[in-house]
Amino acid sequence: MRILLIGSGGREHALAWKIVGSPLCDTLFVAPGNAGTAQCGINVAIDPADHASVAAFCRDERIDFVVVGPEPPLVAGIVDDLAAAGIKAFGPSKAAAQLEGSKAFTKELCVEAGIPTARFGRFGDAGSAKAYVRAKGAPIVVKADGLAAGKGVVVAQSVEEAEAAIEDMFGGSLGAAGREVVIEQCLFGEEASFFALCDGTHAIPLGTAQDHKRAFDGDKGPNTGGMGAYSPAPMLTPALQAQIMREIVRPTLAAMKRRGAPFVGVLFAGLMLTAEGPKLIEYNVRLGDPECQVLMPRLRSDLVAAMLAACDGVLASFDLRWADEAALTVVMATKGYPGPVEKGSEIRGVAEAEEMDEVLVFHAGTREEAGRLLANGGRVLNVTGLGRSIAEAQQRAYEAVGKIDWPQGFCRRDIGRRAVERE
Ligand code: AMP
Ligand code: GLY
Repeated sequence: MRILLIGSGGREHALAWKIVGSPLCDTLFVAPGNAGTAQCGINVAIDPADHASVAAFCRDERIDFVVVGPEPPLVAGIVDDLAAAGIKAFGPSKAAAQLEGSKAFTKELCVEAGIPTARFGRFGDAGSAKAYVRAKGAPIVVKADGLAAGKGVVVAQSVEEAEAAIEDMFGGSLGAAGREVVIEQCLFGEEASFFALCDGTHAIPLGTAQDHKRAFDGDKGPNTGGMGAYSPAPMLTPALQAQIMREIVRPTLAAMKRRGAPFVGVLFAGLMLTAEGPKLIEYNVRLGDPECQVLMPRLRSDLVAAMLAACDGVLASFDLRWADEAALTVVMATKGYPGPVEKGSEIRGVAEAEEMDEVLVFHAGTREEAGRLLANGGRVLNVTGLGRSIAEAQQRAYEAVGKIDWPQGFCRRDIGRRAVERE
């Protein structure tokens, strides 16, 4: 098959690495890709937001299958637009991508389907939102309805902080994403991520992970897209996973089908493991970044065959096999991330890190120029270690990080610490 992968992050390098390992893949293109995906396939300079150009490329290059990595093109309906052009693509339709594109949509669906989640209200103006916050008290969570690249959630410790967040969002700080806000009860517990591969009717588990959202050690500093992750998530026992499938994933698929928007793709459930059981914090409609960088190295089965089965609605008879090993990834970012960063600093030592056994280095914001590897964004590398335990995977990952010579970069030193302490 000739396959086109959409995206340019660490998630896409991990996907590209897995896809080219499939006997079903003859040629892989990545749009737009990074220096890492260029080692797996052919990068093409197409803007994923330009659906017509993507479709034209698919026709010209006789692409058989498109895999969409990030959420913005999914929420913008790229899978529908490709289908209209006769091109098969993996990922949810625009209607189904509302599970990530609109927090209010997901909350309403949870109510309709009896899915455990935080109590909430939705508001179209600041006055009624603030009145609700004053009535409920703090701590309380204020969320912009739409896509906000991880910046749309404020866990407010006081009523004043919540009111300021409401002012900000209705003041336009997040653009159209903040035209409506959802205000939620604050949940307490440990967070974990559960992934399911869905064909519209059936879902099969696609692994578990825990990520680290804050920029600095000890969960300090600003929220980021994710500074590291490990898989499996030890908290998500087989019994808990079965409960999540029964109480959260399957009712969601059934409700989406009833709405005429069957969900095909990867459903990524962000969960809070509360004293009353797992509750849904949010859905994403794609693999996580950096969670994908620890899931793909553990997946033994053919991902391309699995994604095709999802598109064809035949997942019920499908089974995925996983390595027993654990994986842990450390994100290396340019100093200043998640704020503005300077591009173009040189990175050395990646080859030395990659030479290590049980280590994979996935690129995110990188580019190559005259044989030199340069940083090209905020999150730049994902250094993944594998091992019999999370502790062993962690040790390998940090040993590999130590081989990378990049004075302009930084990483957290405590990825996986809590899990290792429990082992
Ligand atoms: P999200 O962008 O929806 O993943 O939210 C970002 C982070 O905010 C989550 O990973 C949680 O740590 C936190 N969060 C979101 N909703 C809640 C909630 N209802 N209670 C407590 N924490 C929350
Ligand atoms: N790491 C969280 C996400 O991909 O949304």
